[in-house]
Amino acid sequence: MSNYKVKKAVIPAAGLGTRFLPATKAIAKEILPIIDKPAIQFIVEEALAAGIEDILIITGKGKQEIEDHFDANFTLEQNLKAKGKDKLLKLATETSNLNIHYTRQDHPRGLGDAVRHAKAFIGNDPFLLLLGDDIIRGDNLSQRIIELYEEYNQTIIAGVRVDPDQTKNYGILDIQATQKPQVYQILDMVEKPQDHAPSNLAAAGRYILEPQIFEILDTLEPGTTGEVELTDALIEFQKSHPLLAYEYEGEWFEVGDAKGMLKAAIIFALDHPEIKNEFIPYIKQVAKKFETHNEKD
Ligand code: G1P
Repeated sequence: MSNYKVKKAVIPAAGLGTRFLPATKAIAKEILPIIDKPAIQFIVEEALAAGIEDILIITGKGKQEIEDHFDANFTLEQNLKAKGKDKLLKLATETSNLNIHYTRQDHPRGLGDAVRHAKAFIGNDPFLLLLGDDIIRGDNLSQRIIELYEEYNQTIIAGVRVDPDQTKNYGILDIQATQKPQVYQILDMVEKPQDHAPSNLAAAGRYILEPQIFEILDTLEPGTTGEVELTDALIEFQKSHPLLAYEYEGEWFEVGDAKGMLKAAIIFALDHPEIKNEFIPYIKQVAKKFETHNEKD
């Protein structure tokens, strides 16, 4: 049991995954693997390692595989046991029996609306929100912002610096430095700015939110995107509550589309115990091939 105030986490996983079609026509995008582990398992493991005791996953139509993945698979277990495949049995059983709860978003009305579905589960507690498309590699970002919440008791948004030409794809934070390195006061936020981004610090899919956010989410109408945006709720919240940003310096992958997933797979393969020995020489060979190819051009 952790002594920290943040003990609950919410993972919205109701999105349709259209950026990943046709792969997501019959499969939940959260189940697509980075090498051999479903993306959502990385997120759940990060939350548990950060001391989270209960996780709510917000699913929707066609997302049953997520529940199946975090459930026991009796037939598989029997089979692996009979064959004495202990290592595989461990892999098959370590994702069952976790404190994971589920609720469903009835219509895909956006991230803000999905988060609103966590209201009863959260009650009066601060909570960790992890977005399923955002995978980190390096220090446990969730743990870092949970620790910061102990110190500041304020809503915290984790951010990562992006190239200026990428700001149009993210929620961008307008920030002011504080005494503490990597910690900023948030002055404003813009969701996917098309021309003038206030900075290059992008919201990176990890937040510590306070329960008062539900009062705003309950009354929020869909914004210009036609969806209820979490960013709009946070902008409203900021009018009466201070918001902090934490700049994460580890690696961040957005795996909501094929390009991001491929980038993550390559990097994770470099230290995957069963793959790296064969993969590293292979990738060097491929890089060399590209070099010679480019020289010819
Ligand atoms: C969401 C948030 C955005 C954030 C991004 C991180 O956008 O709305 O503020 O920067 O996740 O991946 P989405 O990727 O769902 O469009």
